[in-house]
Amino acid sequence: MRVLKVVGMVGILVLSSAFASEIEDRVAASRVAIKEFSMSLKGALKTAMASGGPAHAIEVCKEVAPAIAAGISEDRGWDIARTSLKLRNPSNAPDAWERGVLEQFKQRAERGEDPQQIDHHEVVSVNGQPYFRYMKAIATDHVCLTCHGEELAPAIAAKLEDLYPQDQATGFSVGDLRGAFTIRQPM
Ligand code: HEC
Repeated sequence: MRVLKVVGMVGILVLSSAFASEIEDRVAASRVAIKEFSMSLKGALKTAMASGGPAHAIEVCKEVAPAIAAGISEDRGWDIARTSLKLRNPSNAPDAWERGVLEQFKQRAERGEDPQQIDHHEVVSVNGQPYFRYMKAIATDHVCLTCHGEELAPAIAAKLEDLYPQDQATGFSVGDLRGAFTIRQPM
């Protein structure tokens, strides 16, 4: 009886450490995908700003950001996107789980944690199907201020108002939490 119990416990330990290492792998793979997303986006943004100025770059953000996200999502078989509590495009709105995590990120940033280091992962069950979910905070950088800062050039403000009449994503300063990357992987 005692032996069986020990064997059972060892089994559970082996299983749970296999699960822990699977989760670690998923976190690492999520970070790689986010790096890929963020680098491609920053590259496209820089090229667009240099070739056509920031008003043109707005079009790039509008078209290219979702396209890069869709490409990486398809490549990995996951859902990957960007979201925020202060949205520019309402179609980037967080779901209930993401909203909770964004609120938790906001508190962590307010308590002094560096937004560049803030992330969160969890296994959640939807209709009995487990999903691995991961979010990584996005900090506001200098280059972001052209379109998300406190004072926008009139041409930028006009273009944004035209394309995003419900825009809430201005007024940010360098280092502020801008939003988060979000990933959902079926398990
Ligand atoms: C040239 C203007 C421009 C610059 C510069 C810019 N953005 Fe944006 N940003 C946009 C536009 C336009 C959208 C809406 C994209 C869409 O329709 O999905 C957006 C959307 C976002 C979103 C998605 C959530 C939302 O509000 O819809 C995040 C997060 C974001 N930007 C972060 C950043 C960060 C971080 C930087 C700096 C590294 C940055 N942006 C630089 C124009 C810009």
